[in-house]
Amino acid sequence: MNVVRWVARAWAICTLIFAAGVTFAQTPAALLAHYKTQALGQAAGDAARGQAFFTSTHGNEWKCASCHGAVPTGKGEHAMTHKVIEPMAPAFNSQRFSDLAKSEKWFRRNCKDVLARECSAAEKADVLAWLLSLK
Ligand code: HEC
Repeated sequence: MNVVRWVARAWAICTLIFAAGVTFAQTPAALLAHYKTQALGQAAGDAARGQAFFTSTHGNEWKCASCHGAVPTGKGEHAMTHKVIEPMAPAFNSQRFSDLAKSEKWFRRNCKDVLARECSAAEKADVLAWLLSLK
């Protein structure tokens, strides 16, 4: 009988996880809302601040713009490998910010290169708000 109960519970949990995955539409706007929620109470989602953040250095040699370009409506070029990077602004690249796990992975990696720490949720929201404003 315990097995039956365990299976029922496991099934319920799987259904919940699946439903959560499906209802969180992974669009740039949904990701922005997600980061704003994570920033709890802090001002977040300010496009002007996002632009300043993206185009400035933060103690290290590189800025976000070093690889993505100062106006990321066009292609960027990796500062070290010189590989082409597709545009960052969602209006110019429909793949952008359509997968939270992918965006998180790159935020983590690139923020460590540029700031020697992870970006805060408020910083991510600012950058994404700016990128969304580029048409
Ligand atoms: C050394 C080069 C480099 C720097 C500097 C850099 N990036 Fe990137 N970034 C990349 C590469 C390479 C990718 C992955 C290739 C791709 O997605 O086109 C990427 C992808 C991303 C993505 C994934 C977007 C998506 O969902 O498709 C985000 C977000 C991102 N970068 C944010 C930033 C931010 C914010 C900064 C500054 C803190 C920054 N990057 C600085 C090279 C860089």
